[in-house]
Amino acid sequence: MGFHDTPDTPSAPVLLVGVDFGAPHFDAELEELGLLAQTAGLAPVARLTCKRKAPDAALFVGSGKADEIRTLAQMHGAKEVLFDQALSPAQQRNLERYLQLPVNDRTLLILEIFAQRARSHEGKLQVELARLQYLSTRLVRRWSHLERQRGGIGTRGGPGETQIELDRRMIGEAIKRTRERLVKVKRQRATQRKQRERRDIFNISLVGYTNAGKSTLFNALVKARAYAADQLFATLDTTTRQLYLGELAGSVSLSDTVGFIRDLPHGLVDAFQATLQEAVDADLLLHVVDAANPGYPEQIAQVQHVLAEIGASDIPQILVFNKLDAMPADVRPVAVQDVYELDGRQVPRIFVSARQGDGLAALREQLASMVQAASQDVMTPNGTAELPAPSD
Ligand code: GTP
Repeated sequence: MGFHDTPDTPSAPVLLVGVDFGAPHFDAELEELGLLAQTAGLAPVARLTCKRKAPDAALFVGSGKADEIRTLAQMHGAKEVLFDQALSPAQQRNLERYLQLPVNDRTLLILEIFAQRARSHEGKLQVELARLQYLSTRLVRRWSHLERQRGGIGTRGGPGETQIELDRRMIGEAIKRTRERLVKVKRQRATQRKQRERRDIFNISLVGYTNAGKSTLFNALVKARAYAADQLFATLDTTTRQLYLGELAGSVSLSDTVGFIRDLPHGLVDAFQATLQEAVDADLLLHVVDAANPGYPEQIAQVQHVLAEIGASDIPQILVFNKLDAMPADVRPVAVQDVYELDGRQVPRIFVSARQGDGLAALREQLASMVQAASQDVMTPNGTAELPAPSD
């Protein structure tokens, strides 16, 4: 795949393809795929979408559409084709043959971005593991036609088989080694977390769909300089800072976490969970939403889905509707603070512009009052005073 790490390398031109099977989150503009491609250092030069009832087993799209893709790629000089939907190894191979171009999908794109961005030791190991797992399924199936050569009397496979066996064994060993190293690193992290818990500090985690503005908000709140960029997954590893909320509430710890995304490649769910452990351990979640993106309800649903998966759905939340400055005038809220119904729960919502600073004072106040309320809860469980039991 033509990914580039450094900005000075010219970006490889790619053609983006989306196939609409009637899924509710179908992205007709292929906006997210385009952003993912750019983040990975590729340059989208053309886009094509089509509708189908079901994927074609061989080519994913029909052969007429495949011809159209080939023509469009030639017209725009695309050197690669990227599909928004996951391709089976056979479909990928057939398409590459048909189009005479490298063909990849969203899964591999996300894997590549994670590989480029992981900074911590643990993050790198998790991504490496996910990549190896993805590769091993492709390898086995990609070369299955060679395996069929096996079988004649006395022949224990030709050169094809030997190569596959070798590669498989190498990948298998690499997977095993990476897993063992991960277990060690995870143990160390668990110890560090316990030490932090002992300090008895209130933990707040920022969560949200990728590009919602978590890092920008994190910076604005703690005035640190975490990396914020118009790229997806700029933050892959958790950053934690202290946040002072005034005399009464005191200091809390604030963590920025990796952005959520729909259809996360399977092998990455684990990597994600490890990074998101911070969110699971939090006392309060700041769920950041890109309110200027018309697709925000779907993004909220995706985040809620991941939170449920990692066992964080019962943690209290504040919904932070960010990018107020970029919201079209006709949909701007009348009140910048209200209550939002989220999966049957009433959740406080605050509109802010992390970039311009609007609403941040209100957010701090809300935080301070929730932290204070929580500390009182500790003294009197559930906020109920220790009243003497009613006598009859
Ligand atoms: P991931 O690392 O992908 O999870 O992204 P993130 O949620 O941390 O988003 P980040 O803070 O990197 O911001 C993404 C983009 O949105 C950047 O280009 C920011 O400058 C922009 N952005 C953030 N907050 C605002 C805002 O209040 N208004 C506007 N107009 N843009 C914003």
